[in-house]
Amino acid sequence: MKIKKKKSLRGNLTFEDVLLDTLPNPVYYKDMQGMFIRCNTSFAKLLGTSKQKIIGNSAYDFFPKTVTDRHKIIDKNIMSTLKPYEDEVYFISNKGEILYFILNKAVSLHPNGEVAGIVCVMNDITQRIKEKEFLIQQSKFAEMGEMIASIAHQWNEPLVELSAQIQKMQLYYTMDKINKDKMSDFVNDSMIQIQYMSETLSDFRNFLKPSTLKKNFGIKKAIRDIFDIVGKQIFYFNIQVIFDFEEVKDEMFIYGYENEMKQVLLNIINNAKNKIVKVNESSDLKGKINIRLSFCNDYNLIEIKDNAGAIKEEIKEQLFEPFFTTNVNGTGFGLYMAKIIIEDKMHGKITAHNDKNNAIFTIKIPKSKEK
Ligand SMILES: Nc1ncnc2c1ncn2[C@@H]1O[C@H](COP(=O)(O)OP(=O)(O)OP(=O)(O)O)[C@@H](O)[C@H]1O
Ligand SMILES: [Mg+2]
Repeated sequence: MKIKKKKSLRGNLTFEDVLLDTLPNPVYYKDMQGMFIRCNTSFAKLLGTSKQKIIGNSAYDFFPKTVTDRHKIIDKNIMSTLKPYEDEVYFISNKGEILYFILNKAVSLHPNGEVAGIVCVMNDITQRIKEKEFLIQQSKFAEMGEMIASIAHQWNEPLVELSAQIQKMQLYYTMDKINKDKMSDFVNDSMIQIQYMSETLSDFRNFLKPSTLKKNFGIKKAIRDIFDIVGKQIFYFNIQVIFDFEEVKDEMFIYGYENEMKQVLLNIINNAKNKIVKVNESSDLKGKINIRLSFCNDYNLIEIKDNAGAIKEEIKEQLFEPFFTTNVNGTGFGLYMAKIIIEDKMHGKITAHNDKNNAIFTIKIPKSKEK
C-alpha cells in the first residue's frame, strides 16, 4: 500500500514536471523569502541557464537590482492581500533583445492556509507589441506622401534664392567685383537658406522615428512642429487655421509618445484638409480648421474642428474601424491607428461628433503628473 502511494506520488511529480516543461510560458515558484523552489524549462531558457542553477537562488542572482527591488515590494504586497497580480514588464535577453511579458502572479498556500510562496506565469507578448509598432510605423508612412509634397513645396523658395545668389556671384566675378566682404556676404546669405532646408528635413526625419519611450511633452510645441512641416501645404490650399489656445496660456503637458501623437494630429488635420479640398471642387467654401486646447477635470482636451460638412450619420459608427474609408486613395487606416495610439498606448479617448455643419474630433488625454 505504502509503496503504491509513493509510486503514484513520484508519478504525479513527473507528470507535473512534464506539464510545466511542455508549457511555452516561463513559469516559476518562489518561497516567502524569494528563493526559487521550482521553475520550468522555458523560464531557464529565458535566463540562459539551467533549472538546477536557478533553484535555491533568488531573483537578485539573475535580474537587475532595481527591477528585483520593485518586485520584492510587489510580492510582499500580494502575500499580504492574497490578491492575484498582473503587470507588463520588459526584459533584456542574453542576446540583447528586448522582450515584453505579461506577468501573472498568485499566492500559493500550505494546506493549513499559511502562505507558502508565489507562483508566476509569464506570457511573452513581444510579437504582439512588435506587430502593433509595425502597424503604427506603416500608417506613419501613409502620411509621408503628404509630407514629402510639403517639403518639396518648402524647398522651392530657398532653392530659388540660392540659385539667385550663385548667379549674382558669377556676375560679380565677371565684373571683377569680388572681394572678401562680398564673399562673406554670399556665404552668409547662402547658409541661411541651406540651414532652413536642413531644418525642414530634420523635422521630417524626427517625425519618422518611432518614439519608444513615454515622456512628458508640450502639445503646443508638438502642434507647432507639425505646422512647420505641413503649414505651407495647408496655406497653399487657402485653408485658415485657427489656434484657440486661450485656456492654455503656458503649455499643455502630455505624458505619452510624442511622435505618435503628432501622427494622430496630422491624420486628423489631413482628413479635414482633404475634405475641404474636395468640397472646394464644387463650391467656394472658405475652409477653416479650428484647433482648441482646454482642460477638463483630470483630462487635457484637444479638439479639431473643420467646417466642410458634418460626418454622415450612416458612417459614424465605422470611422475608427480599420480599412474604412470613403476616399478613393485612402487606406482607412488613419483613424484606426489614432484610436490604438490614443486609447491603447496613452490611456486616453478619441471620439468624433458633429456640431451643425462642422465635424469635431476630440482627444482626451489624462493630465500628466509632472511638468
Ligand atoms: N473631418 C472629417 N469629416 C467627415 N468625415 C471624416 C473626417 N475625417 C475622417 N472622416 C471619414 O472617416 C474615414 C476614415 O478616415 P481615416 O483617416 O481612417 O482614413 P482615410 O483618411 O480615408 O485614409 P488615409 O488616412 O489612409 O488617407 C474617411 O474616409 C472619411 O469618410
Ligand atoms: Mg486619414
